[in-house]
Amino acid sequence: MSANQVQPKLIVHGGAGGHLRSEKGEAMVRKALHSVVEEVYDLLAYGGNAVDAVTMGCQLLENQPTFNAGTGSVLQSDGQIRMSAALMDGARQRFSGIINVSRVRHPIELAKFLQGEDDRVLSDYGGAELLRELNVPIYDPLINIRLQEWMQEREENFDKEMAGVIAEQALIHEPRKGTIGVVALDDRGRIAAGTSTGGKGLERIGRVSDSAMPAGNYADASAGVSCTGIGEDIMEECLAAKIVIRVGDGMSLATAMNKSMEESRSRKRDLGAIAIASDGTIAWGKTSEVILAAYHDGKQIGDTLNWNNQELSDYH
Ligand code: GLY
Repeated sequence: MSANQVQPKLIVHGGAGGHLRSEKGEAMVRKALHSVVEEVYDLLAYGGNAVDAVTMGCQLLENQPTFNAGTGSVLQSDGQIRMSAALMDGARQRFSGIINVSRVRHPIELAKFLQGEDDRVLSDYGGAELLRELNVPIYDPLINIRLQEWMQEREENFDKEMAGVIAEQALIHEPRKGTIGVVALDDRGRIAAGTSTGGKGLERIGRVSDSAMPAGNYADASAGVSCTGIGEDIMEECLAAKIVIRVGDGMSLATAMNKSMEESRSRKRDLGAIAIASDGTIAWGKTSEVILAAYHDGKQIGDTLNWNNQELSDYH
């Protein structure tokens, strides 16, 4: 590494919510997250830029049916899947996103394309038009387990938490609060953040997720943040932008994360966040029981998956 190069850092998440149901569930999520961290960190270690690393990380997580983004997304109240994603290049302070798009494998790819456009956030019809314009192949992200969950909810008039149904068998926390996200610092000190989601599940048609808003995904030259949890809670805290701006104003990332989580907890929010600052600090925080995250600090891979862990936030 030359004198003006910095040590790349990476953190990814696969959602927040109720605790993992067992050590077996923990091991399954750990394997999925660590494999993504390994692959994406390789790109950063060989000089890849933060935006490409974040895009690649989001694609890999969108591919994993365990998480609520891309393949494995939850169904909305009308039984359809509508996904949202955002990408923010901190060095250029440029945000792009796609809202409620269907029949595509990688919503994050659309957000990446929009980085270079004048109109950088598109929704439903605009997303469908863009897919057609780019000749993106049609892809159905539905998996059987999500359909079964939705059908069970329908039989019960949607009055039961989705969490306790099929998710129990899969040994995973509540899929409805899931989202995936990636934050990276590259060897030139540039930060990027990306977030992708199938939404809350069972929402009204037209409901807009925080994931494609600066509240849920934000970065500048000082820090980057990706959020997960109940979108309405994240929007009302303006969480990602708030943490980043606090760091830009001189607060350490650990303090900014702690303060923001304490405020969120005092208002009974249900959310989590991952972050990296330009000084190389990696941090995460949550008001929910668990945040499913893993990171690479330049030396080794670590994670937040201690299924009894009740810490509000932490940093590395
Ligand atoms: N955080 C994902 C959503 O609420 O849509």
